[in-house]
Amino acid sequence: MKFIFGRELNRKELYDRNNEINKIINSYKTRQPVAVIGFRRMGKSSILNAVKSILEENNVFVIKFNIEGIYNLYDYSNRLIESIIVELSKKYRLKYYKEEIKKLINKFIGSINQVNIKLNDVEVILNRYSDYLENRLKASEMIEDIINLPEKMAKNIHKKIVVIIDEFQYIRFLKQPFPEILRIMRSKFNEHTDVQYIISGSEIGIIDELLNNKNEPFYAFFRIIKVLPFDRNESIGFLEDGLKNYSIKCDKAILEKVYEMTSGIPAWLNLAGLDLAENNCNILSFLNDDTYKNIIKYELNTLTKNELLLLKELSYKKIKEIKISNKYRIIKSLINKGMLIKTQNEYVIVDGLLNYYLKNL
Ligand SMILES: Nc1ncnc2c1ncn2[C@@H]1O[C@H](COP(=O)(O)OP(=O)(O)OP(=O)(O)O)[C@@H](O)[C@H]1O
Ligand SMILES: [Mg+2]
Repeated sequence: MKFIFGRELNRKELYDRNNEINKIINSYKTRQPVAVIGFRRMGKSSILNAVKSILEENNVFVIKFNIEGIYNLYDYSNRLIESIIVELSKKYRLKYYKEEIKKLINKFIGSINQVNIKLNDVEVILNRYSDYLENRLKASEMIEDIINLPEKMAKNIHKKIVVIIDEFQYIRFLKQPFPEILRIMRSKFNEHTDVQYIISGSEIGIIDELLNNKNEPFYAFFRIIKVLPFDRNESIGFLEDGLKNYSIKCDKAILEKVYEMTSGIPAWLNLAGLDLAENNCNILSFLNDDTYKNIIKYELNTLTKNELLLLKELSYKKIKEIKISNKYRIIKSLINKGMLIKTQNEYVIVDGLLNYYLKNL
């Protein structure tokens, strides 16, 4: 195993996660929609990449897109359509250019017509979407087209399709102008016979609400597969394994310390591995690494002043001693964002490294 920090991994680069991958593949076989849930940097997207490549080897057509940061149906549709065009272009060996969506659609339709590929329903929907982009159709007039696009496409290409939607919790933003949209979506997803849905989510509190609250449209629709940190043995095994590539062996106590500091979060383990390898097992090289500090700093910048205050207090005190008004509303918000969890009677910062950073602010 090589240490790779940051980017999504492909199947060959993954350490372990066979359990999670097998569960997802088995769910595919029984036509069970799946939600892959885990805090940030656990390796969800990488697991989904592995699943995509296994399914593709088995002749399943897979569309994967990430909806992090979407604000509305327009953003959602663009990402869906773009990934569909990319995958279809691969299938038919069409040239694919990175273009803004309107040009992309035009070029794609042009090229399938030129080589005489029949994708009638897809073409109709893409044309309608172009009309929408040129203000000849309202969003409300093409919502159902967009939701049904994968199923129509599956019928057109005579293949089963798997649609993977990464960071699914952003779907809630579609409700803004169209409060019923998630209800329609769920019922259509249910009807689709040739498409199966896999989603992931990292803002644990929000995704939990979306999938497990009886009043939410997606209540009890997905089977939930949790992606947890590596445990002590896995973490140490992973580090030892990676360090071998550098012909380095660090003291077990150092690796134990890295596990404690990182809570076994895979991304941080990789970063620590790189630092240890390049600095002769000196753990300070990791603890002082600007890479994680910058990421954490950036994420803390998105919090409110009180959220930050509460997290900081929590990093070295018990919650009971914290005196902020609206304490529980702030806690709830931090749980929603996937930064805190409640264990028995305590609130704990999920990420050991974040805890360490806050303590040393
Ligand atoms: N199975 C694994 N083996 C080794 N490293 C891993 C594994 N999974 C994740 N990582 C590490 O974590 C990093 C992030 O992985 P990935 O993007 O898949 O996580 P994620 O859960 O999707 O994160 P985010 O919530 O930020 O989207 C990788 O670049 C790699 O350093
Ligand atoms: Mg991800």
